[in-house]
Amino acid sequence: MAKIFITGGNGQLGRACKRFFSKNHQVVSTDIQEMDITNSDSILKAIGDFKPDYIVNCAAYTAVDRAESEPDLAYRLNVVGPSKLAAAAVLFKARLIHISTDYVFDGERQYPFPWTEEDEANPKTVYGRTKLDGERVVLNTFGCDAIVLRAAWLYSPTGHNFLKTMLRLAATSTADSVHKIVNDQYGCPTSASELAKQILYIIESPSYLDRGVYHTVCSGSTTWYHFATRFLELMNIDTSTFKPCATAEFPTPAKRPRNSVLSTDKLAAKNMYVMVDWETALKNYVIEHGQTVYKDVLASL
Ligand SMILES: NC(=O)c1ccc[n+]([C@@H]2O[C@H](COP(=O)([O-])OP(=O)(O)OC[C@H]3O[C@@H](n4cnc5c(N)ncnc54)[C@H](OP(=O)(O)O)[C@@H]3O)[C@@H](O)[C@H]2O)c1
Repeated sequence: MAKIFITGGNGQLGRACKRFFSKNHQVVSTDIQEMDITNSDSILKAIGDFKPDYIVNCAAYTAVDRAESEPDLAYRLNVVGPSKLAAAAVLFKARLIHISTDYVFDGERQYPFPWTEEDEANPKTVYGRTKLDGERVVLNTFGCDAIVLRAAWLYSPTGHNFLKTMLRLAATSTADSVHKIVNDQYGCPTSASELAKQILYIIESPSYLDRGVYHTVCSGSTTWYHFATRFLELMNIDTSTFKPCATAEFPTPAKRPRNSVLSTDKLAAKNMYVMVDWETALKNYVIEHGQTVYKDVLASL
């Protein structure tokens, strides 16, 4: 049984980690109310009291568009916080598992060719730049046994995510509604439950992983439009008001990568578990959480 300390425990991934890890391990899960990752005193107290074997950092600034106008806050949460956690991991001899993103890449690679861990990151957004700096700070902290897991297009039953937005659009559709969804950005939709399972496999693996960066996403890839319509079909919801569009028709403050598909070959080469394909994970999500999530969305209208 390992002692695992989760930060950002109320977020999408944090909740999934708590659920999966608690079955066989001793878990302390905190969010900003219990431990602010940018506050050294708060970190030293919480982590010093528990003395974990692993710190899984799920806390982050994740509002991709808002980050463009809040760069200082994004930097504090995505760089300063992780640097403090890395220092605490060294002090208390814990392994640090830090979560990063596909948005560290600029996306300027022809689809369907995926990005590997060897490829140079070149983020085009404040969010992506701060996440890349966060990766570097934990990997460069002297003496820190850190791995960085890059995730993508996360969804879960709780918190804000793309699938809930699609349900909200569907639920408020009228006969003349047209919902344009971007169909020229490619990525790997990844269920938070699958990612939590992936992290657990890594923790429980007798060989663990060498310090470094690893891509941890559901296999396969798709566009936002196909992701949305596949989800709604699985929910038995009419998709006729959903239409594909180009990125240019849907301008956002942050310029998202066109192709941020990640290769998981490095993980597979280590004989490590690799997540199921995105459609299987999505089906499982609909079976397990579809009705609850739909009710939550209706209640929020
Ligand atoms: N969401 C995606 O599509 C996606 C894609 C690729 C990678 N990732 C990465 O995956 C990881 C998990 O993402 P997620 O979607 O689970 O994020 P999330 O749902 O936004 O959860 C992040 C959690 O961190 C908390 N937090 C914020 N500031 C904090 C602080 N100073 N100290 C402690 N906790 C704090 C947040 O609280 P509040 O809600 O109160 O702010 C929230 O509960 C992140 O590293 C993210 O960059 C996410």
